[in-house]
Amino acid sequence: MRSNPSAGARVHVWQEVLCMKPRQIVERVQWLGAIDWDRRLFDALIPLPDGTSYNAYLVQGSEKTVLLDTVDPALAHVLMEQLEGVPRLDYLVAHHVEQDHSGTIPVVLARYPEAKLICTPKAVGMFVDHLRVPEARLVAVEDGETLSLGDKTLQFLHTPWVHWPETMVTLLQEDKIIFSCDFFGSHLATTDLYAQWDKVHFPAKRYYAEIMMPFRKLIVKNIEKVRACAPAMICPSHGPIHNEPEPILAAYEDWAAGEPRNVAVLPYVSMHGSTKLLVDHLVAALAERGVAVEQFDLAATDLGKLAMALVDAATVVLGTPTVLVGPHPLAVQAAYLAAALKPKFRHATVIGSYGWGSKAVEQIAETLSPLKCEVLAPVLCKGIPRAEDYAALDSLADAIAERHRDLRPA
Ligand code: FEO
Repeated sequence: MRSNPSAGARVHVWQEVLCMKPRQIVERVQWLGAIDWDRRLFDALIPLPDGTSYNAYLVQGSEKTVLLDTVDPALAHVLMEQLEGVPRLDYLVAHHVEQDHSGTIPVVLARYPEAKLICTPKAVGMFVDHLRVPEARLVAVEDGETLSLGDKTLQFLHTPWVHWPETMVTLLQEDKIIFSCDFFGSHLATTDLYAQWDKVHFPAKRYYAEIMMPFRKLIVKNIEKVRACAPAMICPSHGPIHNEPEPILAAYEDWAAGEPRNVAVLPYVSMHGSTKLLVDHLVAALAERGVAVEQFDLAATDLGKLAMALVDAATVVLGTPTVLVGPHPLAVQAAYLAAALKPKFRHATVIGSYGWGSKAVEQIAETLSPLKCEVLAPVLCKGIPRAEDYAALDSLADAIAERHRDLRPA
């Protein structure tokens, strides 16, 4: 992970920057927002190899005008310039309190003193706490409630945990457009207004893995709720618009609820090469048995790629040497990450080398215990692996291949 290399350049240079102009989606519905080409880290945790975007949308009915979401406050000037030609806002809809979408709300509310901020009941207190929005400006909407803008109608659908408990999406009924905020988003900086699935599939899966996967059991109902609207278009607040919603809907259904695939993920760290010898042997043995393996050197890997691999995996084998009796800290981090992301793998174990004693297996098993997966026989060796250690790895490969026998291909 790297810190944001452009942080020092993220200066608000009002009036001197040529910003992206609003772009029409359908009549009187426009994309607004900011493309953050240079951002490389989100939440001081998540790598952004392809940058990101913060999409806002302007809907102008015959009687009322509404802005849906805003942008990260670092790029507030872009949105405010785009709003230059908008004399009045009746409402601002906030789907989510996280600051990459809501951080510019105070600026917008200051520019438009008549505007009310619409959100879920759960978001009301959060806006007061996180952004000091005056309660008098807030309007809570119930699940399914509608708002007439004249010849256009918004319907608010509560969709908790995509990504926080207060989240909702909005259906623009006449145009069958769902504004989904984080849901169905992708961290992808692009000038493409509409998603080309072959370009978006990978960043959308990465986004799902990093942001949505911890809530996968809860979001299945939210996917159904969106499907029930038969949307013609899904407009997320990160990445391009899905003007053909089927690929992203089907992908989400598969990622969240599909059976695991014939994939074993093998994150490992090796200090002096012994654990790597075990890893190499096991990977070869698994490949020989028809099991697809995704191998990650934790000393160098992009954690987002590891998270993506966990979306489909059926088995995780963590390779770690023993450091001060326990697992290597990078292996601890990987196990913690796996437990936090709650992927659907069913089997796990540990392989690794130790010097004189080890509690690595117990500690990793404890970290992974919330996942309730089957713990396969670990393979730990003292120093450099011997013939019996390689034989144990072959047995482990047999056990994994047996459990993967009826799984979908990778
Ligand atoms: Fe894009 Fe959860 O904020």
